[in-house]
Parts: sequence; structure tokens; C-alpha cells
Amino acid sequence: MGWSKERLEEVARTRLGGAKLIVVANREPYIHRYKNGEVEWIRPAGGLTTALDPVMQACGGVWVAHGSGDADRAVTDASGRVGVPPDDPNYVLRRVWLSKDDEEGYYYGTANSMLWPLCHQVFARPVFDPKHWETYRRVNETFAQAVLEEAEGGPALVFVQDYHFALLPRLLKAARPDLVTAQFWHIPWPGPEKFLVCPWAKELLDGMLGNDLLGFHTQHDCNNFLDTVDRALECRIDRERFAVQRAGQSTTVRPFPISVDPALAQEYLGNDWEDRATALRKKHRLGDRPLIVGVDRVDYTKGIPERLQAVDRLLHKHPELKGQFHFVQVGAPSRTHIPAYRDLTEEVNALAEKINWEHGTEDWQPVVFLNEHHGPEDIFVLYRTAAGCIVSSLHDGMNLVAKEFVTARDDERGVLVLSQFTGAARELPDAVLVNPFDVEEMADGLHASLTMSGSEQERRMRRMRGQVDDHNIYRWAGMLLSEVGKRVPDPVSVSVPAAEPEVEEPEPIAAPTAQERRQEHHIARETYLTAMYLASAGV
Ligand code: F6P
Repeated sequence: MGWSKERLEEVARTRLGGAKLIVVANREPYIHRYKNGEVEWIRPAGGLTTALDPVMQACGGVWVAHGSGDADRAVTDASGRVGVPPDDPNYVLRRVWLSKDDEEGYYYGTANSMLWPLCHQVFARPVFDPKHWETYRRVNETFAQAVLEEAEGGPALVFVQDYHFALLPRLLKAARPDLVTAQFWHIPWPGPEKFLVCPWAKELLDGMLGNDLLGFHTQHDCNNFLDTVDRALECRIDRERFAVQRAGQSTTVRPFPISVDPALAQEYLGNDWEDRATALRKKHRLGDRPLIVGVDRVDYTKGIPERLQAVDRLLHKHPELKGQFHFVQVGAPSRTHIPAYRDLTEEVNALAEKINWEHGTEDWQPVVFLNEHHGPEDIFVLYRTAAGCIVSSLHDGMNLVAKEFVTARDDERGVLVLSQFTGAARELPDAVLVNPFDVEEMADGLHASLTMSGSEQERRMRRMRGQVDDHNIYRWAGMLLSEVGKRVPDPVSVSVPAAEPEVEEPEPIAAPTAQERRQEHHIARETYLTAMYLASAGV
């Protein structure tokens, strides 16, 4: 039996017993905002909310998040609570209000100017600012307070998301040792040499070791985390069980590759996707030419300039393709308060303009850059109608665009061009795997997406769809709940179908394999060469 929403509901009942599920994530799954004087709601861009919302819809509970929309307060009660999804509520969103100073130091500062570049291999220099750090600490305390209020009076499993809340698990355990805490780290974990330059490394690690369970996307990330803890802290590492023992607390560290809900593709496409595709083509003057699409937040880890350079190279290598396709980049604005992100938007605009100037004609522009927020209804139409989708992240924990694209292709057509430095590349070897730093290889990947035979597309797409169907978001959540649920007191015994093991054991834990070490070395070497190249080119 595969993993479905219903099976996850069953596992949640079995494993949680009477305990309340409280998810903590900085980003809220639904944002209310004013548009033309009216309140509307949108789903934010980004993998975390895409992945977690179906889980919450299956399990119920409370999602504690920063209330970031300008109309958020208008729809919540006095404690910041509102039922979601807004059109058919079945769980609670508890909004936490932050000041601009809080956002500056905690979200833009420590989370996204320090931890984000620290954890990704992209040679962006992390900012270590003590004032940001103080705010990060304070905001983690603010969230701890909100969680403790939500957990009052009964057992609870608190499921913390991401690098915004490294200190939260320890704060929760100190206040309520009976709470069961799990954390999923949605971005990569670097090697110890890199992480330990952070002045607050020990405090961050200690905070995370307040968890009963700590999840990463890959075994490689888990190995890096354990090596980092081993170097930095007094503790006992049990390599057999993959657990860290410290001050009477045991933290299990396991890989859980995140995924998507494959059924959502059909929901977003509906029966009228072809009409919507026609309207979209008309709006952006795409004619009936084949499309290659990219869908990302505009973030320097995503390799957007690199893929534009590949489009340019493709047109130089294959001038016969001029006028024959469009490259459509959906670039949701992201973290624009941070200079590096603003600079990147300018760089992408300038590159698109340059390529269009050089290769375009009056009635054909090769690059269409859509630099605004698009809802899943539009994005899935693009996935479904495209010849190919390119994901060229320089480094990415997983990348759910790759998996979403696959779920949209019930026609078993379409080519996925995928960076080998994403977590998704380990699960989707049938994609055209490329090194995003290698412009020649990327151009060839784009060429393949326009020329691959139908039968080859079908062969690859069928296997990728099978993989994502089996390893869907319900499996991810079910495995996590099964693992951490062992620590929830007094689970109510509800039988799970006998033929099916309750918990699929995660892959055996091992030290990094020779291949993983080679790949790490390869990443380091490639990124070093690129950094040298960019520096010598004055970029
Ligand atoms: O994957 C890392 C992450 O920070 C997620 O939390 C989120 O889905 C995505 O990037 C978007 O980031 P933000 O919430 O900062 O817009």
C-alpha cells in the first residue's frame, strides 16, 4: 500500500494519541493582503509551505508562524488565530506578530544573511552581526512563548521547521521537558570546517540538540551535522543508532527527503488548463512555440544567471533555434530587503535584456522574465505545457519545483533538466543531470529538452513519476511521525493494516561513502573554480 492522505491520518491518530500537533515555521501557509481595498489571500512561493500544508490538512493541529501579510491582523482573533485553508478551514494558523526590528535582525539578518549562505555552497559571505544574533535569540523566545501557550494543559508534539528556529527546541524542552520535539532542516548542512566559523555555532548546535528527532534531506547532510557536533561539543555520538547523547537528552538524526502531494497537480490544472495555457501564451506573446520554463524565488542559490547564460550559449551554438522557442522564467520576488537579492534581480533583468537585444527580433524575444508572484494555478499550467523545465540550483537541499514539474506531466512528456547539486538529483536520476557551473553542459541540457524523442521522454518521465508517486509528502510526514511518535506518551493503539510495516526503517546509517566524499570534493572544487572565475571577471 502506498502513502496517501488517508494513511497519514491513520498514522497520525496512532502515533499522536491524544497529543496535539504544533508545527512551527516562520512562513505562514496562507497570507492575507489588501488588494484594491479588499482582503485577499495567497499561497506564498517556497517549498516549505507547499510541502507542509497538505500534511496539516491531513493531521490537523496548529501552525505557528510569523503573520507577514498586511491584512493578516484583519482576519484573526485576539490571540492571532484563524482557521485555514481560508476557503475550507480544517486546521488553525496562529500568527505571531514581529516588529520591523525583529524582522531585520531575525529573518533578514541571522536567518537569511548568516545561516542561509553558511549552509549553501555558493560562496556568498555570511554576515555575522551580534545585533542580528541578539534579535534572533529574542524572536526564538517569542515563538517559544506562543508554542507554550498552544501546548498548555496537555501532551504535544512540536514539529519545528528550518533554520529560523535553531534555538527553539532547547527553549521548549527547558520549559516543558514532557513536550516531544522534532525539527526538520530544509536546507543543506555544510561540513564542520565551514559551519564552525560561525561565532555562535555552539549555541546553535546546543539549541538543535534540544530535539528528540532532527531530520535533514540526505544522509550526507546528517553526516555533516554529526561531524560538526563531534568537533564542537562535549557529547556522545552513537553511530550505530545515529543519535547524539548530551546532558541527559538523546537526539536521533535521520534523513527524510521531502516531497510533494502528486494529487495537487490535477487540482491546480482542473479541466480548463488548456484554455488558461492559451490565455497565458497570448498575454506574454509566446505564440505556439515550445517553452522551457524555470520557476524559482529570485535567490542567488538557484543559479538563474547561469541558466540565462546557458540560453545565450544555446543560441550561439544552435542559431537554427532562433525564433523556435521561448525561455520563460517565473521569478517570485524574495527577501528583497537584502542587498544581495536586490542586486540579483537587477542582474537577471540586465541579462535577459542583453540576450533579447542580441538574439531577439521584433516579434520574438527568447527570454521572458516574469518577476512577480504567481499562484500554483498559473505555475502548473506552465509545467504542463512546457517542453522542458530547468532547475539549475548551485546548491539546494531538495528542490520541489523538480518534483512538481513531474507530477504535472500525466502526458508522460517533458524533459527535466536538473542540477546535480540538488537533493532531488539523488531521487530523479532520469532527469538530464547537469553541472550548473558548466555553461556548455547546461546549453546541451537545454538543447536536449527541445530535441529529445517522444519515446525517450516517456521512458524517463514514467520512471520519475513513479518515484514521486511512491515517495510523496505523506510518506515523508508518515516516516517522521512514526519515528518521533515513539516518544509521545501513551499512544492510543489503533491498528495499521497488518501486511504493511508500521514504520519503514530509514536507510542504514553509514559514514559518508567514497562516492559522497568524491561528490563533496567535486562540489567544492567546482564552486571554488567558479568563484575564482567570477572574481577574475570582476563580478
Ligand atoms: O527551503 C528554505 C526556505 O527558507 C523555506 O523555509 C521556504 O520554503 C523557502 O526557503 C522560502 O523562503 P522564505 O520563507 O524566506 O520566503
